[in-house]
Amino acid sequence: MRYDVITIGSATRDVFWKGGFKPVKDRLCFELGSKTEIEDLYFSTGGGGTNTAATFANLGFRVACLSKIGEDPGGQAVLDDLKELNVDSKFIKKTSDFHTAYSTVLSTELDRAILVYRGASQEMESKDIDFDQLEAKWFYISSVGGNLELLNSFFNYAVKKNIRLAWNPGHKELKLGMGDLKSLLSNVGVLILNLEEAKKLTGEGKISDIFGSLIKLTNGIVVVTNGMKGVDVCSNKSCFRASALGNEAVERAGAGDAFGSAFVAGLILKNDIEYAIQLATANASSVVSEIGAKNGLLRKDSLGKFEKVKVDSFKF
Ligand SMILES: Nc1ncnc2c1ncn2[C@@H]1O[C@H](COP(=O)(O)OP(=O)(O)OP(=O)(O)O)[C@@H](O)[C@H]1O
Ligand SMILES: [Mg+2]
Repeated sequence: MRYDVITIGSATRDVFWKGGFKPVKDRLCFELGSKTEIEDLYFSTGGGGTNTAATFANLGFRVACLSKIGEDPGGQAVLDDLKELNVDSKFIKKTSDFHTAYSTVLSTELDRAILVYRGASQEMESKDIDFDQLEAKWFYISSVGGNLELLNSFFNYAVKKNIRLAWNPGHKELKLGMGDLKSLLSNVGVLILNLEEAKKLTGEGKISDIFGSLIKLTNGIVVVTNGMKGVDVCSNKSCFRASALGNEAVERAGAGDAFGSAFVAGLILKNDIEYAIQLATANASSVVSEIGAKNGLLRKDSLGKFEKVKVDSFKF
């Protein structure tokens, strides 16, 4: 089967804790020896690999997710969600050596704090993967635990097979630094970073210098998101900017994944950056209106309902 997109990245069990604790200035503190009552819990699944697959599936693409989970209830929850979403999970490997990744999200009115166990999701190895089966038009790659050898395998295979590459590198990939990432970047069709990540990767402070550097390195489209301030997108031909849609945000988990995946979906559908920004902005604003990184994502039948996203072109 040739997929439209294979998403590659983490698969997590997420639990959201609500109420019962309050931030003091910018901190959440718990007294040792105390008990803190939580008002409510909400369980869902997350991780860049499965969240982005959910967007593509909802928008009608043929999609498979490649990830690694443990042999545990968290892993089963991931598989159940993917099945319900119509995402093929045949490339998801199971291991008995690690638990499925697990995130505990402590939500407050001001912001959230997240406790992360990365577990199986960062233990993917090239030897787990039957590359010849990865037939797709696009790979959408997010975090793979900073495994450079694995990244090189995916990128080399994609180049060999003419598969287009969208990349939203995770924290551990970015930590490898420009020296290791430079040769990978030259094959990327769409690079997605938030502003903080883009600054760290390029070592530049000004947005014009950040784009100057990344456009030269990728030769593709560079997307730099900045939370509620929205997004700047440049190719070597043009630049566009849009603000976020300020709906009532309930929980911002999954905003980055929803944006990046819908941006690529928009490009696949219309090959038009402005359209891709509209679809991505609407998808991200919609996912933050509900708890859980896959809830609220747009569906195929909501395409065309987001004209209110205003996109401006600009020049540096
Ligand atoms: N609170 C919000 N309300 C509406 N839209 C939002 C909100 N936060 C983010 N977005 C949208 O999502 C896009 C991506 O958000 P952001 O820059 O926070 O990504 P990120 O830092 O990669 O997030 P993540 O923590 O999910 O990885 C923004 O450009 C914006 O369009
Ligand atoms: Mg992100």
